[in-house]
Amino acid sequence: MKDKLSTSEEGQRKDMENYYRFQAKIYDATRWIFLFGRFSVIRKIPVNYKDNLQILDVGCGTGVNSKALALQFPNAHITSIDVSKDMLDRAAEKLKPFGDRITLINEPYQSDTKWNNHFDIILFSYSLTMINPQWSELIEQAKQDLKPNGYIVVADFHDTKMGFYKKFMRSNHVRLDGHLLPFLKQRFRPVYEKVKNGYVAVWQYLMFIGKKEQ
Ligand SMILES: C[S@@+](CC[C@H](N)C(=O)[O-])C[C@H]1O[C@@H](n2cnc3c(N)ncnc32)[C@H](O)[C@@H]1O
Repeated sequence: MKDKLSTSEEGQRKDMENYYRFQAKIYDATRWIFLFGRFSVIRKIPVNYKDNLQILDVGCGTGVNSKALALQFPNAHITSIDVSKDMLDRAAEKLKPFGDRITLINEPYQSDTKWNNHFDIILFSYSLTMINPQWSELIEQAKQDLKPNGYIVVADFHDTKMGFYKKFMRSNHVRLDGHLLPFLKQRFRPVYEKVKNGYVAVWQYLMFIGKKEQ
């Protein structure tokens, strides 16, 4: 199996655009089977549901989590960003009923100063393990883009002991090396953290909520 982890920012964007050109068509029908933890971690976000929140959904894909966020936080504005136009087109359909409560942006999330201290919540759901090599930079960027006391919320693959599965995931642009959690815990104060087994422990997935304290 060919290792398809990107080694440059530009390569990563192109890989995502190409990969999701076809995958977007089958995404919603297939991913619910194994992308665990997405909705449970959203339900655990410790803020008042009535607040006028600013939320960023990074790598929003087809918009399933943006929809869950919009329903859970009826007064929130959600910015949903994705590098893949094919995925975002599907999100646009799904999120139409929410009107201007959701803004869709077809760009990569990247190092920038435009959103300094702007968001109350930033969600990365199954995007960070595909953002190679720049995943740690974008966690730092999220810290910059969050308001003081804002929350980073992550659901993603964590690790695997099975070499074949690690290789298989790398051939699908996913890095499964237990690398995210230690870095998240170092950069944010953990308020919720759980690692759980996927099917018969072939892989583990993580859920994390961390608070920006300085
Ligand atoms: C596995 S999908 C997850 C989609 C959605 N968050 C979910 O939980 O179903 C990963 C998404 O991240 C997007 N993505 C990857 N790299 C990105 C980047 N640098 N900036 C923005 N989106 C990115 C991909 O295009 C894809 O839609």
